[in-house]
Order: sequence, then structure tokens, then C-alpha cells
Amino acid sequence: MFRAAFRAGSVDAVYLRFASADVNEIARAARTMQFHGFNITSPYKERILPFLDDMDEAARRSGAVNTVVLRNGRLTGFNTDVEGVREALLRHGVTLRGKRALVLGAGGAARAAALALVSRGVSVTLMNRTIKRAQKIAAAFSCRVAPVEVIPREMENTDILISCISEGRSMVPRDCLTRDLVVLDAHYREESPLKRDATAGKCTVIDGREWLLFQGAGAFRHFTGQEPPVSAMRRALYDDGACAKKNIALIGFMGTGKSAVGRHLAENLKMAHIDIDDEIERKSASSITDIFRDLGEASFRRMEERQIDAAAGTSGTIISCGGGAVLNAANVDRLRDSATVVWLNAGVGTILQRVGDDWSRPLLDVQDRRSEIEKMLRLRTDHYARACDLVINTDGKRPEEVAGRIQDEISTSL
Ligand code: S3P
Repeated sequence: MFRAAFRAGSVDAVYLRFASADVNEIARAARTMQFHGFNITSPYKERILPFLDDMDEAARRSGAVNTVVLRNGRLTGFNTDVEGVREALLRHGVTLRGKRALVLGAGGAARAAALALVSRGVSVTLMNRTIKRAQKIAAAFSCRVAPVEVIPREMENTDILISCISEGRSMVPRDCLTRDLVVLDAHYREESPLKRDATAGKCTVIDGREWLLFQGAGAFRHFTGQEPPVSAMRRALYDDGACAKKNIALIGFMGTGKSAVGRHLAENLKMAHIDIDDEIERKSASSITDIFRDLGEASFRRMEERQIDAAAGTSGTIISCGGGAVLNAANVDRLRDSATVVWLNAGVGTILQRVGDDWSRPLLDVQDRRSEIEKMLRLRTDHYARACDLVINTDGKRPEEVAGRIQDEISTSL
């Protein structure tokens, strides 16, 4: 969605997913990798607060942040979930003032919905299985709380139903979902039972992706200072074909662990593994070092392109690429068409340590390796960022840990 927005708005930027289970690492990486900004999701929306230098009003009131902008070394947090849910309703012709809403759930999304509605004159009732959590939100935003047992009675007095629970089963009986009701289910990944029942009951159903879209539009505004190209973003968001690629490609600088991580991933996911450098050596019956020395880098790059083309034509394969593969636009196009592309990132210190006294890499056969690596990283980082869907920082992580994190990310979101 963001990539489409940047294209439509002629913004020279990339948006990628950062794989991490550690909020410290995220805040640190934002600075060292010089992000311009980032979005964060549960459970980090609250945990990021201690790392911020400043916050906007919605973030302060909701106690949660989903958008962070890094400018002049300062991290500023915003909460665009609040405007996101409001816009999703308003843009679909729902008037708010004086209406009654029932919000199900008590997590970050429910908080944002409650705040968005209360501040527009909606009278909000919250419901959650653990009532204590709902009471906490209610106290902060002056809403009512009702126990889940009285849903049918509450529904009689509800104009807008917002579900912020991720359960597969709908909490709302089917016969409560009738024509005059507006229903927004924040759970947008698949067709939810609530959405199905609400559609059957002829309610006004607003797709959960509209909330995702408008929180993204708000983030775009903070990142770029420009008005968001909403239609281009919506088209990208609803394009299901953009997901579920058949291969996984690993890219990144020498020494970031592409081959070792690839082996672990292949074993864990029961997928095939193609290491492009190994393929080149096998097909040419000579080593990379010899190819560089005898035929030159240009010949090596032609062989690399051929092997990437062949690997991208397979399916169910982990493809470990050589560090320079992304310099060739044809390779990037081919990989992006066929694979979820994962960038293994590492700092210079880690790279130096990992390549150690292995002198078989022709491009690192130089006196001052540190400066050479720094120079190459300056030239390549942008290529890695533009080519990938997901980035993972590998400093201090073993290959099996990196593989595990990639698996988690791919199974939950890509
Ligand atoms: C190269 C990286 C090497 C190999 C060749 C060129 C590069 O692969 O393809 O020496 O340009 O960075 P690894 O990244 O697997 O070491």
C-alpha cells in the first residue's frame, strides 16, 4: 500500500517490513539504519512510548502510537488509528454526532475507536470478556461498559457496531444485525463470521481494510508532508494477488548469513534450497574466485542472472542470492515476481567478523577490508531496501534464530 502511495505521489522512498520481537532493537535500528519513519503494531504500540521524544494529542490521549517519524535525531509518535477509524466511517457517509456505538474488545484498536467516537459526540458502550480491561478504557474516555451477556439488549440501542476482537466466532447473535446498523469489523484478514452475518442482515458493512487504509493515509501525511493518494493506496490494499508468493529469496551483503539461514529455512519449511553461488560453481565447474580471476566480474554477473532466472522459475524454493545480485534490475524484478524477498542486514563489525579470514570472496580480497565494506554498503543499501519485502537485522543472532523470525513473520503477515 505504501509503495503504491509513494509511486502515485512521486515520493522517492521505500516501505518495508522490519522483522523484530524487540522494541529496543526497533528504536535503535530506526536510528542506525536512518529510517525516515515507521509504523508499529501490537504489542509495541504502548511499549514504544519510553523511546519517544514527543507525541501528538491522539497518541497522548490513547496511550498508544502506531506511527513514528524520525527527524533531526528526534522520534515523534502519532496515533493515526484514531483518525483512521473516524475517516473509514465518515467517508462511507456515516454521520457521528448524537449516535450510539457499541465497541467490542479492549485492546489498542478498541481504545482508538472509543477515543475517535467519543471526541465526535458519539455515546460509546464498551464490551469485553474481561470486563476490567473495558472499564479502564471507559474511565479514560468517559464511555459506558456493559457485560457481554446483555448484547441483544444493547444492540437494540446501537447505531454503529465496531468489533475489535480477533475471534473467529461472532459475539453478536445474527438476528441483532439488521438494516439500520453500521458494522465495521477491524479484523480484515479473512471474511469474518460477523461480516458475513451483517451482510446477510443487510447492515451497512464497512470493510476493516478501510480503517487500515485511512490510518495508513494519516501515516503517509506524517512521513511525507503530502496529501495521501487514497485511491492508489486502496487499489494496492485490495489487490490480493500482491501476497502469497511461492518462493522465499534471501538477499543482503556478504557475511549476513544468506546461505546458512537458507539451509535452516528450507529444512524447517520443507522447501527446496538453491544457493545461487553454489549453482554457478556447479554449472561452470569452477570456483567463484576462479571465475572472477579468469573471466572477470561481468561474466560472473551474466551467470548469476541466468541462475536467478532459473531459480525464480521454480516454486517452493528458498533462494539464497549472492551479495551483488540486487545491483542488476532484471534480477530484482525476477525475484520480486516469484518470491517474498527478505533482506538480511548486518553492521560492518558483524560482517567483518563473519567473513573473518576467509579470503575466497574476490571483492573483499583487499588491504583495507573495513573501508571496502563501508564503501560497498553505501552503494548497495538502497538496492537491498528497494528489492525487499522484509528486513531482518542479524547482528548478534544465530542463523537458526534468524530463520525462526522469518518463519514467524511470513506465517503471520506476508
Ligand atoms: C558477491 C557476493 C558473493 C558472490 C560474489 C560476489 C557480491 O556472494 O556472489 O563473490 O558482489 O557481493 P555472498 O554474498 O554469498 O558471499
